[in-house]
Amino acid sequence: MKIVTITSSPHRKGTTDALASAFCRGAEEAGHAVFRFDAARERVQPCLACDACRRTGACVQKDSMETLMPHLLEADVIAFVTPLYYYGMSAQLKTVVDRFYGKNSELSGGKRTVLLAASADDSDWTMAALERHYETILRYLGWEDAGRVLAMGCGDRAAIEQTDFPNQAFQIGKSL
Ligand SMILES: Cc1cc2nc3c(=O)[nH]c(=O)nc-3n(C[C@H](O)[C@H](O)[C@H](O)COP(=O)(O)O)c2cc1C
Repeated sequence: MKIVTITSSPHRKGTTDALASAFCRGAEEAGHAVFRFDAARERVQPCLACDACRRTGACVQKDSMETLMPHLLEADVIAFVTPLYYYGMSAQLKTVVDRFYGKNSELSGGKRTVLLAASADDSDWTMAALERHYETILRYLGWEDAGRVLAMGCGDRAAIEQTDFPNQAFQIGKSL
């Protein structure tokens, strides 16, 4: 299978990198092809809402989405990886998701997705809005959830390394 992992933290060795790296390792061990896109280190501009894509089929913006989109269109599984920022996904990830707009119909259906997220807080409502948003995107695009790791109470790499969360991400990758 073809797997696309979209990370979105500016921290190269942060908590969500621990999840993403473990997930990718599991998927590769299972024999899948993994394309990792680190959105925080790419140039992805916000959607201009110009609707040129609706008229011509192509986005007018020339940036790293030109690299990512062909992989997304071919992907069997997309992993969304995000630090929790104000109880939602990071702006870096949301900017990528908004750019799906130009290819909504081609992207719709037939894909499974994974959510890997980390937060400092660990209240029972900490990840509620993120999960609701994730589920709503899946419902809209006709995609199916293939697993989630919600690493709450993990404010930094040292904290997440004390937990089983990276192993859980590995197991999801391996099970695909
Ligand atoms: C801008 C910003 C917003 C944050 N918002 C939240 C939040 O709403 N709730 C929370 O529990 N942690 C919040 N955090 C903490 C991060 O989610 C947490 O430290 C996470 O592990 C960082 O992941 P990373 O190391 O992969 O960047 C925030 C951190 C930043 C920098």
